[in-house]
Amino acid sequence: MSLKAIVFDAYGTLYDIQSVADITEDAFPGYGEIVTQIWRIKQLEYTWLRSLMRRYQDFAAVTRDSLAYTLRVLGLAYDSETFERVIEKYLHLDLYPDAVAALEALRPRKLAILSNGSPDMLNALVRNSGLDRLLDATISVDAKQIFKPSPQAYELIGEVLGTEPSEVLFVSSNPWDVAGAKAFGLNVAWIERVTPEAMALACVENELVAPLTMFKAIRTQMDELGFAPDHRVRALSELPRIAQESPPADNSGMSRPE
Ligand code: LAC
Repeated sequence: MSLKAIVFDAYGTLYDIQSVADITEDAFPGYGEIVTQIWRIKQLEYTWLRSLMRRYQDFAAVTRDSLAYTLRVLGLAYDSETFERVIEKYLHLDLYPDAVAALEALRPRKLAILSNGSPDMLNALVRNSGLDRLLDATISVDAKQIFKPSPQAYELIGEVLGTEPSEVLFVSSNPWDVAGAKAFGLNVAWIERVTPEAMALACVENELVAPLTMFKAIRTQMDELGFAPDHRVRALSELPRIAQESPPADNSGMSRPE
C-alpha cells in the first residue's frame, strides 16, 4: 500500500471533545460531566437522524441543538451568554498532546481532515490550534449535505485530494467512523484510546457507573458492524510506524497549497 494521503477525523481523534468538561462544569457546577457526555452522545445521534431523515443541518446547528436538549432534560436553567460561552469552546478544543508531532512525522504525505464539522467551525478550530500550518486540506462533509458514515461523505477525500481509497489511510478514534471508512474502502487506523481491559475495570471498580464510564461503554469500544480497522493503535504517536510500512507515494504531480 503506497500512501499518498493520511486523513484524520477531527472531533475525538485530533481534538479531545472531553475538553469541554472544564467549561461545562464551570457553567453548571456539579453537572459538568453528565452535560459533556449526554451532549456528545446526542450530537452524534442528531447527525445520524438528520442524515437518515434527509433533513441536513450543519454541525454547528446540531451541536447547538444537542446542547439545548441536554440542558433541558437535566432541568438546567441558563442564559444566552452561558450557552454561547459553552458553544464557543468547540472552536478551542484541546489538541491531543501527540497530534502535532505525529502529523509532522507523517509528512511528506498529504495530510487532511475529513470531519462532520461545519466549514466555519473547522476552519476556526484548525486556525486556533495552529494545525493549519500542517494540513493540506480541511474537508467538511457540508459540501455533501450528509454526515459520516455516509459513503458520500468519504467520497470527498478523493474529490479534494485526487486520491484513490487504496492510497489513503483514514484515522479515527470513533468506532462508527472506522466502520464507515472501512465499508467505503479506505485503509483505516483506529485510535483505540480505551482498551477493553480498561473498560471492564472502570465498570468493576465503581458501584455507581459514572457518566464518563457510560460514555466510554457506548462510544469508545469497537462496534458489531462487521467492519474492523486495518490497524488498532493506542495513540496518534504510533501512526508514523504504520505509515513506514508503506513509503510515501510520489506526490510530485500533486499541487500542495502553500
Ligand atoms: C468528526 C467527528 C464528529 O466528524 O467524528 O470530526
